[in-house]
This record gives sequence, C-alpha cells and structure tokens, in this order.
Amino acid sequence: MVEVSTSILSVKKGEESETFFKLEKAKTDYFHIDVMDGKFVENDTYKKMLEYSSYIRRISNLPLDVHLMVEDIKTAIYDFSSIDPNIITFHIEACKNKEEAYELIKLIKQNNCKVGISIKPDTDIEKIYEFLPFIHMVLVMTVEPGKGGQTLLSDMLNKISKLKEYVDKNNIEVDIEADGGINLKNCDKVKEAGANILVAGTAIISAVDYKVIIDELKR
Ligand code: DX5
Ligand code: ZN
Repeated sequence: MVEVSTSILSVKKGEESETFFKLEKAKTDYFHIDVMDGKFVENDTYKKMLEYSSYIRRISNLPLDVHLMVEDIKTAIYDFSSIDPNIITFHIEACKNKEEAYELIKLIKQNNCKVGISIKPDTDIEKIYEFLPFIHMVLVMTVEPGKGGQTLLSDMLNKISKLKEYVDKNNIEVDIEADGGINLKNCDKVKEAGANILVAGTAIISAVDYKVIIDELKR
C-alpha cells in the first residue's frame, strides 16, 4: 500500500490551521516539511517550517516527514528534533564526504529519529547504495529541490526503478519516497517504478477535496 506525505510548502498564509485540520481529516499519512535555508536552495523556509511543525506537533499525532534542503545539516537536526519528527532526511550533496554522512546518520538516530537520505536529479543513485543498510528511507527528488509546483522529471522514474531493483536484489528494507511534481496523471508511473511513499504539495493543496486526491494517489 502506497503512503502519501503532503508537502505543506504551499499552505496559504492565514489558512494554516484550517489546512492542517483538513489534511488530517483527508488522512494524509505524513506531513512533509520542506526546510530550505536560502543557501543549499534559493528559498528560505526555515523559520516558517519550524513554526508550522511545532504547531502541527501540538494539534496532531500524525508523523512529520522532515526534508532538510540545507547546508548546515547538524544545526537543522538539532532544531527539528525538538518537534519530534518521525523521520529526518538530509541531502547527500550537502555532505563533504562519506564520514560526514555516517556522522549525520548517527546524530539523527541519537535524537531518536529515523533517517532518510535525499538525492537531487543529477546525482547518481549508486552514490547512496553504501548507506542503505543504515537508513530507513531514500527520498528521490523528481524535481530540482527548491520550490513547489514544478513538473516531474520523467527520467527520474528510471532512477527509482534502478533503486528498487537494487534493494530487492540485496534484500534491503528501505522506503522509497518520490518528491516533486507528483499528481494524479503521473502517480501510477511513479508507483510502478517502485516508490512506496509519494510526496505531493500542489496536487493536494490546490484541490477542493483533499481526500479525493489523497485516496486516488494511494489507490
Ligand atoms: C521541493 C520540495 C517538494 C515540493 C513538492 O524542493 O522538496 O516537497 O514542495 O511540492 P509539489 O508537489 O508541488 O511539487
Ligand atoms: Zn520535499
């Protein structure tokens, strides 16, 4: 069964609590928290995402799926561990070397949190193979990180199926999350490629009835 993680990046100002409540009622499986520092990517959502996450944590038991698009991953791990997320995902491209990546995996676990590694469209999937036995999720970016509302890059589907083939062949238990430009038109192809968690922002938040979209994405 596929799960849906709704990105709250495009939640409209002033409609936050209404939107989060509607998403809960629509049975999103996770809230996807897109943390951007204005350095790793152009946009800066750091403060806003910290505020939103602490608000959601106070009003909902739903798990928080924190996607760090930041250079200073260590500080972000400390800041976002405070809102008791289900999983913290960092970008392999923001790590200077493998040792740093292993250190971050350890630090996230020491903060009682599951670990994800995310890769940008131009990064080869092989780059993260060695970390797979130690993490819970691979977040495959299907758009360039940095903003919502973009179009899914279809050659990312091959990357997802290559990863799925590798983890199946090597009996590695890891979730594959696809993130960016996912909607009702392309979600079947993303699932067929092997993703078992779909991130959607615009496709859900712009809909009149969130539940219809979330149910369709899960089908
Ligand atoms: C982009 C973010 C994605 C994005 C998803 O940097 O990581 O999570 O907000 O939003 P949509 O579904 O609108 O592409
Ligand atoms: Zn994201």
